Amino acid sequence: MHTDQLAKTFVEYFEERGHRRITGSTLMPPPGDPVLFTTSGMHPLTPYLEGRPHPLGRRLVNVQRCLRTTDLEEVGDATHLTVFEMLGTWSLGDYEGPLSLDWGYGLLTEGLGIDPALLHTTVYAGDGRTEPDTESLRLWQERGVPVELTVEDNWWSNGPVGPCGPDSEIFLWSGDGPPQSTPTRDDRWVEVWNHVTMSHRRLADGSLVPLPQRNVDTGLGLERLSSLLQGKPSVFECDVFDPWRRLVPPLWSLDERSLRLVCDHLRSAVVVLGDGVRPANTGQGYVLRRLLRRVLTVLWRDDPSRGLEALPEELVRHTLDRFRQDVHPGDVLRVLREEEHRFRGLLQRGRQVLTRPRFQGRLTEEDLHYLHDTHGLPRDLVTSLRDE
Ligand code: SER
Repeated sequence: MHTDQLAKTFVEYFEERGHRRITGSTLMPPPGDPVLFTTSGMHPLTPYLEGRPHPLGRRLVNVQRCLRTTDLEEVGDATHLTVFEMLGTWSLGDYEGPLSLDWGYGLLTEGLGIDPALLHTTVYAGDGRTEPDTESLRLWQERGVPVELTVEDNWWSNGPVGPCGPDSEIFLWSGDGPPQSTPTRDDRWVEVWNHVTMSHRRLADGSLVPLPQRNVDTGLGLERLSSLLQGKPSVFECDVFDPWRRLVPPLWSLDERSLRLVCDHLRSAVVVLGDGVRPANTGQGYVLRRLLRRVLTVLWRDDPSRGLEALPEELVRHTLDRFRQDVHPGDVLRVLREEEHRFRGLLQRGRQVLTRPRFQGRLTEEDLHYLHDTHGLPRDLVTSLRDE
């Protein structure tokens, strides 16, 4: 099943159950949201989770692009992407969590043909302040799906303050043999779908107050489930990465992990640029700058003559099309090249700085911090400059 087909099946399944499709937003979070980028489908819906009536009603479904920098160090493994698409559903004070889980189970097993024996779930165990989620536990027990109870892993929040609540996560077995162990003990259990009962708001003093209504907010990682359904060992091998895997290896010879990082970060940078962000030293622009510098650092480690000049316009166009961004690929390529040029200049200065007597011996942590904070030189780049 192609990724687009999976998204369509998901949306239609929930439309048949009374959900109205809302258009996904850009990566820019709504005003007042504490994060730099939209990190999940619920972000643009925060006012409605807090009680404002939504013009399309109480049951919603959508496909939302998201960006997570919390997972940056994990990019290159089998399941993490910086920019990804999240399939989401919402009950705005309408139905409760167990019905959402039951529908989720129906879609995964009957709708998508997943063997129920390959599923595991987790449920909120309660922490003394908030009750255990016994209704979700009962639902999974009735369906015969194994459940692991946790506390921190099953409390979802959007940040230190804001809407939050207990969740139940659905995991799919990705190992070769029969399923073993539990999600917290074996990472071959891959989390695919999170169902949050968005029932509380955390205030700045850490206290929890009930929201005016109990909501359900679910999020399913599209590329993640797609790659598992396609029998691929990583998200980078599902169909949305086909053009990247075809066009990048002939340009630059890279080990698998570096290839994944380069593809992920360049694709993410294109989407961020497509949403109107420009490189900068702070905020969203700094995230973009960091993504590009990480790519260039990997490329130049093996061959400093490599450059983004070589990046085929087809990859930029394919990405902008996938995310429905009405931006000229040539404009994106121009910014990428300007940023590369700026980074090269920075490195030249860095080489000069490193000739200073202070940096002739072994570099201390303090030196590395100074080089990073004052001269913008990332640690691994300094290390490779020293090895030149
Ligand atoms: N907000 C939840 C998550 O990001 C479900 O959408 O996992």
